[in-house]
Amino acid sequence: MGSECNYDFDREICRKGTNSVKWDRCGSKFGETGLLPLWIADTDFSVPPEITEAAARRLEHPVFGYSVPPEEYYASIISWFQKRHRLNLEKDWITAGSGVITSISYSIQALTEPGDKILIQTPVYDPFLTIITGTGRTAAASPLLPGNGTYEMDMEDLENHFRNGVKMMILCNPHNPVGRVWRKEELQELARLCRKYHVYVVSDEIHCDFAMFGHSFTSVLAFPEIHDLAVSCISPGKSFNLSGLCVSSMVIPDPKIRERIQAKLRSAWLLHPDILAMEMSAAAYRYGSAWMDAQLAYLEQNSLLVRERLKEEAPRIRPAVHEGTFLMWLDFREFSLSQQELTSELIHTRRLGLNDGSTYGQEGNGYMRINIGCTRNLLNQALDRLVQMEHEHF
Ligand SMILES: Cc1ncc(COP(=O)(O)O)c(C=O)c1O
Repeated sequence: MGSECNYDFDREICRKGTNSVKWDRCGSKFGETGLLPLWIADTDFSVPPEITEAAARRLEHPVFGYSVPPEEYYASIISWFQKRHRLNLEKDWITAGSGVITSISYSIQALTEPGDKILIQTPVYDPFLTIITGTGRTAAASPLLPGNGTYEMDMEDLENHFRNGVKMMILCNPHNPVGRVWRKEELQELARLCRKYHVYVVSDEIHCDFAMFGHSFTSVLAFPEIHDLAVSCISPGKSFNLSGLCVSSMVIPDPKIRERIQAKLRSAWLLHPDILAMEMSAAAYRYGSAWMDAQLAYLEQNSLLVRERLKEEAPRIRPAVHEGTFLMWLDFREFSLSQQELTSELIHTRRLGLNDGSTYGQEGNGYMRINIGCTRNLLNQALDRLVQMEHEHF
């Protein structure tokens, strides 16, 4: 148990009435209220106390004028990545921003032209497609290869796409929704292909702190040979449950592409995140390590609970091998339901708010994504409903 005991992840915190998307927007998302919400990617956990203390300290000063990121904003990120991921970042590489997806969108605009092809590996977090098409670029999908309950990158297909003129790829590392933590050897091969075909790689590393079960996260920045092609997007949002603060950073080692991206951000007057967000981010990265370890231990137990209960009690619902993120990818294809029937049953009969797998690309038909960043009690209630569903079908 150890450090897990010091923080109470079992504590039920009522989020209803806080304008929470997860808890207060089920009606508009699912057409039903009162569902058990295990959808959108934030957790129900309280942040470490150092974060709220940092915010309270800043609130004691009554003036909130235009501000730049404090030195500690950068120093805390550098220290965190050094200690937790053995990655040496330099201050100049870091550009503070107000959201990973916004940052990726501006990277696309800075480094590619309208009409250019940008590759994504489906099934994948759907805003990638939204910003590719929204910026007038064309999406090229390279579906992940399923097999043995897990997914691999299709290197041959990637190379074909690269050969056929893809200008950039958006990597999701670790991967939402399938839960892979890409290994160093896979990324090494990807880096080789990016180098060979001069393809930019914008790596969404927002889930980097959630490598579980002995897996370790490797950043695209671990490959100096592609530093002139690589952008890593990081954020304390998922790690510390701070998504509502809209704070993130781009890490861009190469001065030329950094200047191009910064120029694009300046052209939209996107200068830096807000004062409280920067202070809270710094406190999270500086003091959040023990809390993060405890959170990971709790999430691993949640993940095992899903795996074991489904295996024992509802074996036709198959979770993909879960290596990282607090999202799990459930395969319902044995139910022989259309995607519409599946989602409708989950919402209206089981009263569960999960994410529809088909949102992430057609490869997600027959799948649902469940967010396990909740109390074990809530997770057990959701599992009870899934077990009941299987029993009524078979
Ligand atoms: C892979 C991934 N990237 C980005 C985001 C959103 O990041 P932000 O709110 O900083 O734009 C999410 C949120 O679910 C995510 O899962």
